[in-house]
Amino acid sequence: MQVKQPLFFDTHQENKDADIQELIQGLLCPQATLSPKYFYDELGSVLFDAITLLPEYYPTRAELEIFVDQANEIHAQFPKQATWVDLGAGNCQKAVMLFTHTMPASYVAVDISTKYLSNNLKDLQAKYSELNVVGLGIDFSSSLTFPETLKEQMAGQPLLALYLGSSLGNFHPTEAFYFLQRLADLCKTGQPGSGLIIGIDLVKDSQTLERAYADELGVTAAFNLNVLRRVNSLLSSDFDLRDWQHFARFNAQESRVEMHLIAKRNLVVNLQGHQRAFKKDESIHTENSYKWSIKNFSDQLLKSGFTSVKHWTDSKSHFGLFWASLH
Ligand code: TRP
Repeated sequence: MQVKQPLFFDTHQENKDADIQELIQGLLCPQATLSPKYFYDELGSVLFDAITLLPEYYPTRAELEIFVDQANEIHAQFPKQATWVDLGAGNCQKAVMLFTHTMPASYVAVDISTKYLSNNLKDLQAKYSELNVVGLGIDFSSSLTFPETLKEQMAGQPLLALYLGSSLGNFHPTEAFYFLQRLADLCKTGQPGSGLIIGIDLVKDSQTLERAYADELGVTAAFNLNVLRRVNSLLSSDFDLRDWQHFARFNAQESRVEMHLIAKRNLVVNLQGHQRAFKKDESIHTENSYKWSIKNFSDQLLKSGFTSVKHWTDSKSHFGLFWASLH
């Protein structure tokens, strides 16, 4: 028997020189910063999957609870015989869970972590031999262009965009607005019934928030520190991971959890001919995770071009799942 292989497009052009310039520039700023996209190498992706299993990290479970408890109402919104575009698909587990209620005609999994994605898609195709499985390796935060052959395949069907796990929270609200606008434009290219299902973490007490990003086992710390290994391999720099400590705090004014790596002592890092000195307790800001209110997020979806918005929350109102469509 011939085994069907998923179609895979890897258009993620690694522009190494631009990455290097961006990294150095960020690290030389008075408040050193790193782009969060470097978290997700192969090890980073596995560590993130481990984060989702931590008792303190509630968003994944809260989102799952919503999908289970309110399955009928949620799936009633989904177009049938649709192309699903799963943004940041990762291990594809969430989409697969939804297949038990609604089976798409095609499943397009998009992720920046190409190798991780293609391994997962092979397993998925073996399990769902009828399904049209497509992998797309792109950095969709900077561009959402699909290969022509894929566009043709998608044109005749309604489109269901999935952006789960509250990853939109990692964008500054202004960037989030532009990104949602691109998603609304994408949905407009699909047949009637197209829409976006998106999960977003909600504002809550700072203790719950901070514990979710600084777990007792230290998995989040490992995830955050792993970014320095990635930087060392890209820049041949000499960050010593033992000199750095993970730190997370909720900034209520900005409504975001900020992730930092803090220097444990005075030190100097060599960055391709540049040197950056860090004083003890000085930090590298590695990530933000914005927390939204239901009202603000609904407004944001409507402003960015969707015309109808519905939402559901978990029993503790920790997390919001939104359906945004165009009718
Ligand atoms: N999208 C996840 C979130 O904001 C990413 C994440 C979870 C993360 N834990 C982290 C990013 C720790 C950096 C450090 O919830």
